[in-house]
Amino acid sequence: MTRFRRLRGSARLREMVRETRVSKSELIYPIFIEEGEGIKKPVDSMPGVYRYSIDTADEMLSEAAKSGISGVLIFGIPAHKDEQASSAYDENGVTQTAIRYIKKNYPELLVIADVCLCEYTSHGHCGVVSDGKILNDETLPLLAKMSVSLAKAGADIIAPSDMMDGRVAAIREALDENGFPDIPIMAYSAKFASGYYSPFRDAAESAPCFGDRKTYQMDPANGREALREIEEDIFEGADIVMVKPALAYLDIVRAARDRFDLPIAAYNVSGEYSMVKAAAQNGWIDEKRIVMENLTAIKRAGADIIITYHALEAAKWLEEQE
Ligand code: PBG
Ligand code: ZN
Repeated sequence: MTRFRRLRGSARLREMVRETRVSKSELIYPIFIEEGEGIKKPVDSMPGVYRYSIDTADEMLSEAAKSGISGVLIFGIPAHKDEQASSAYDENGVTQTAIRYIKKNYPELLVIADVCLCEYTSHGHCGVVSDGKILNDETLPLLAKMSVSLAKAGADIIAPSDMMDGRVAAIREALDENGFPDIPIMAYSAKFASGYYSPFRDAAESAPCFGDRKTYQMDPANGREALREIEEDIFEGADIVMVKPALAYLDIVRAARDRFDLPIAAYNVSGEYSMVKAAAQNGWIDEKRIVMENLTAIKRAGADIIITYHALEAAKWLEEQE
């Protein structure tokens, strides 16, 4: 008689037959660096997450460096925003300066640079705007310029999150032409127009001031189209592809895992983090247990890399388990 319970009798047995494990080296921690000095501002909708100026970020960065996670995903918040997102590709911009600082002082951390214009544009859209429209092809050279400038500052991986068509090819070409043929691209390939991003937009001050992102980010209803997006990014030269958000899109992670052989990242986004934090603060759920369950589910669905605001806490919990 089949008795599944035979292998569940002790912690040792359960551990021996466990199919999926999360490890620290799979985790990436997103960070927000604001232009200025002496800043450490809590993000109200994301308990435990702060906006730092680079001079106050050491405590967090050294914790990240010691934690055993692979690296950070950096989002810069510039003092100056304009129509052309000029701070995005300014050699002395907030993000470039922060990347140089982190690579110099915490060389053990991989620095993944998010590439998008929305934190840098006055209107908060991810591309160039004209007559109320978000232009695709006019945006590509700016994304390419931004990528080269972040690579020059020392970024280890370039991660475009804008969802303009053709951006991976444009960025790959620019990186190659400017002496960065070895810098990988982690493409936000299947990025959905999601309600789960609202806490991030508070954190990064990147909410669009008119309209929404539905003409460039994907419709949450479309699974097959997500696979076409991923296929196209691979064709254009992506080295790692991403599905975002993670938990409501695990079917996409699984389908991508079954179809493609390059590394897959999943972004456990701000809203997913905030929901867990809010419920935990109310005493309604056990945060550690829920986070480990969520990370395991993302891994089980087929992700190799998990970007999560819980990375530092999860690294601690994983350490305790060992
Ligand atoms: C910017 C960007 C967003 C996120 C990552 N890069 C927000 C958006 O597209 O509006 C979301 C991350 C999160 O919610 O944690 N393009
Ligand atoms: Zn954007």
